Amino acid sequence: MKLTSLFPLLFLIPLLASCAEKKQVYIVYFGEHKGDKALHEIEEHHHSYLQSVKETEEEARASLLYSYKHSINGFAAELTPNEASRLEKLEEVVSVIESHPRKYETHTTRSWEFVGLDEEETDSDFPSQKYEVDDRFRVGRTFLRKAKHGDGIIVGVIDSGVWPESRSFSDKGMGPIPKSWKGICQTGVAFNSSHCNRKIIGARYYVKGYERAYGSFNVTANKDNLSPRDLDGHGSHTASTAVGRRVIGASALGGFAKGSASGGAPLARLAIYKACWAIPNEEKVGGNTCLEEDMLAAIDDAIADGVHVISISIGTSSPLPFSKDGIAIGALHAMKRNIVVVASAGNSGPKPGTLSNPAPWIITVGASTLDRAFVGGLVLGNGYTIKTESITALKMDKFAPLVYAANVVVPGIALNNTSQCLPNSLIPELVKGKVVLCLRGAGSRVGKGIEVKRAGGVGMILGNSLANGDQVTSDFHFVATALVTPAVVEKILNYIKTDKKPMAFIKPGETVYKHQPAPLVTVFSSRGPNVLDPNILKPDITAPGMNILAAWSGADAPTKMSIDTRVADYNIVSGTSMSCPHVSGAIALLKAIHPKWSSAAIRSALMTTAWMTNDEKKPIQDTNGLPASPFALGSGHFRPTKAADPGLVYDASYRSYLLYGCSVGLTNIDPTFKCPTKIPPGYNLNYPSIAIPNLNGTVIVKRIVTNVGSGNSTSTYLFNAKPPSGVSVKAVPNVLFFNRIGEKKGFQIVVKARKHKVMNATEKGQYQFGWFSWTDRDHVVRSPIAISLA
Ligand SMILES: *[C@@H]1O[C@H](CO)[C@@H](O)[C@H](O)[C@H]1NC(C)=O
Ligand SMILES: *[C@@H]1O[C@H](CO)[C@@H](O)[C@H](O)[C@H]1NC(C)=O
Ligand SMILES: *[C@@H]1O[C@H](CO)[C@@H](O)[C@H](O)[C@H]1NC(C)=O
Ligand SMILES: *[C@@H]1O[C@H](CO)[C@@H](O)[C@H](O)[C@H]1NC(C)=O
Ligand SMILES: *[C@@H]1O[C@H](CO)[C@@H](O)[C@H](O)[C@H]1NC(C)=O
Ligand SMILES: *[C@@H]1O[C@H](CO)[C@@H](O)[C@H](O)[C@H]1NC(C)=O
Ligand SMILES: *[C@@H]1O[C@H](CO)[C@@H](O)[C@H](O)[C@H]1NC(C)=O
Repeated sequence: MKLTSLFPLLFLIPLLASCAEKKQVYIVYFGEHKGDKALHEIEEHHHSYLQSVKETEEEARASLLYSYKHSINGFAAELTPNEASRLEKLEEVVSVIESHPRKYETHTTRSWEFVGLDEEETDSDFPSQKYEVDDRFRVGRTFLRKAKHGDGIIVGVIDSGVWPESRSFSDKGMGPIPKSWKGICQTGVAFNSSHCNRKIIGARYYVKGYERAYGSFNVTANKDNLSPRDLDGHGSHTASTAVGRRVIGASALGGFAKGSASGGAPLARLAIYKACWAIPNEEKVGGNTCLEEDMLAAIDDAIADGVHVISISIGTSSPLPFSKDGIAIGALHAMKRNIVVVASAGNSGPKPGTLSNPAPWIITVGASTLDRAFVGGLVLGNGYTIKTESITALKMDKFAPLVYAANVVVPGIALNNTSQCLPNSLIPELVKGKVVLCLRGAGSRVGKGIEVKRAGGVGMILGNSLANGDQVTSDFHFVATALVTPAVVEKILNYIKTDKKPMAFIKPGETVYKHQPAPLVTVFSSRGPNVLDPNILKPDITAPGMNILAAWSGADAPTKMSIDTRVADYNIVSGTSMSCPHVSGAIALLKAIHPKWSSAAIRSALMTTAWMTNDEKKPIQDTNGLPASPFALGSGHFRPTKAADPGLVYDASYRSYLLYGCSVGLTNIDPTFKCPTKIPPGYNLNYPSIAIPNLNGTVIVKRIVTNVGSGNSTSTYLFNAKPPSGVSVKAVPNVLFFNRIGEKKGFQIVVKARKHKVMNATEKGQYQFGWFSWTDRDHVVRSPIAISLA
């Protein structure tokens, strides 16, 4: 005891002395390249800055990690805080970004069909074909054909790499690689040039920042390959969700979600940028880590390689200012070249203000559920029967005796841990052939099933603690398993206590389709308001992110636990990481249909056509059963088929984002642009939604719409609104006439706080929600509104 507490004291003094000089990686960012230097001159130019703060030339050279040469002007280097602040003071430096690791966390057959994008079914096992094909799906097929299934479009995925052997990445029958492609296939451990094909047209990896943060790469400790190969699963899952080929008969362990797995744009091409790596000596369940400087290098290359869409399923729970956020900076440069950047909102919900990636030039995606559910069941000897969520297909053939873990543990287990089914805690003689009630709290969920199995048990009832609440989490367990809420735990404990021979039977999980209501917002999806700039409403949109089936890494277990030695080609996982690539795939299709649309136009089309109603024709609900607010749902659940023909779009140019940047401290990005002396308010960015915090009196919001309707005939759009409580919303003018395609019309939205409304403390600062729309014969162009009153 004494020794361990002494050590830190002994080391304290030398540590303190070196602390001020402790080096770490910073990104020194200059904005856009001026275009006055050849590629080889840029690195020398960056190097001259390093030399100005370093003692020797050698030291300067050794400190450089990346020189960003293509679009992003900047470099990443190891600097002391003092060196960093000296560089930050230089006029030409926009910002100095401190490197920090980001983690992604994860908590498809059905998902594309659910939004109306399935193809003709060829798989007789797929239950949905028994349902009548409604109009939604017919539109979907026409839409997919019109978009040539995404052929010609290149989607870049920044993630943990790819498992190239997956059937989802086969290039069978695909045409030649698009001529515009300028990327490479970078080889490495277990990844050679044959692993790229006409589907995976490019692959690269970025590890310099990771190595500075975690020490040089060590395969044993890192459980990763120094190559674009995905040993984690996350990267293969996201890539195949966006653009994976149609795979008949794909299913996860135990035949779950069996059917055809397909990405949204199955003929689009894939460019892999591996920038996320396993954390050394840590269970993979925690998620991989992705360093800012590695991701920025990936984005700079992706832009130069010629991708059309960049998909980033990586978030943070507390976003940094835009000028200090590598993803936001990289995305701004991508947007200038009309590349659409899609990113996940994060998994930190349902707490408000938890959303990541809130920059308005990024499409921020929340997560919803599908109409597919995995349903199992539990029956007790006294007849008590409930349905439970389950993705464990293991069967019990008959009723078995039921015991509570705390009554069958070896001596010496701490009192608070006796119910936990921790490793080696159960007595095999008392567990053999029985069902064990285990509680959550300490130890992993899957580990508890492994312990029950070790002790000879035949089933597990896994009970949520009060802290876990009522939402259960499905896993692939090792014994038949029923997941139950705290209230049900109480019932079962009471039954065990009062019955002489308690018995239980667990039904295997089964896939159930057309489960209503759907979609719902998931509990984990991060929520608005946008903490960086409440003048921009976020998230933008939601897409399926609950129990998504897609390709997995052949080197990782479906539960991501080292103790789990099972391997699955396909896996079911949940998270906004899964919803983000759904939108990326949809964008690949939209790009194929409308190659000239800007990134803002595509976003607008997706947002203004999104679904607000569920499959029961009621408002989409949040997990509390109430209608989901735009802070959970954004503009709604995406509806790609409708987005192809939105009628009007809210377009925005690169310069209008630079102007917006002036209002949030992101300045001097571009040598050709200076912020005006009078900076317009952030809510005047031409965005397809409106957010106004602390409204006091009247605010006039300016917007411009562009007619992208089909045909040359004139069209007339009428204004309609449902104002948030406590305000009035009017448009001037409230009718818009268009004579041709491409015509732009401006209008003003006058938002006025109702006078004399007496507010109590709770109402003040509380957000209220509404919407406005422009409607012609064929289109409803709808925008959500979020307003809080001062
Ligand atoms: C790449 O590796 C595979 C085995 O994974 C091998 O079959 C193939 O011949 C290799 N290709 C090249 C070009 O080395
Ligand atoms: C790699 O990591 C393992 C496990 O942590 C360690 O035993 C080994 O010495 C490391 N190898 C090198 C070359 O650092
Ligand atoms: C309970 O189990 C957890 C997880 O194994 C362990 O960290 C903790 O120390 C245990 N508690 C006690 C009081 O032993
Ligand atoms: C029991 O207490 C220990 C520490 O006192 C804690 O680590 C562990 O998580 C607790 N177990 C449960 C089930 O809460
Ligand atoms: C619209 O009008 C232009 C010029 O009058 C013509 O070139 C174009 O083909 C027309 N497009 C459609 C869809 O009618
Ligand atoms: C404030 O008003 C709201 C809505 O009218 C009401 O639900 C709430 O109870 C009130 N709070 C207080 C502190 O009076
Ligand atoms: C609202 O605006 C008025 C007039 O500009 C000002 O006097 C008042 O303090 C403001 N109220 C709040 C809550 O900001």
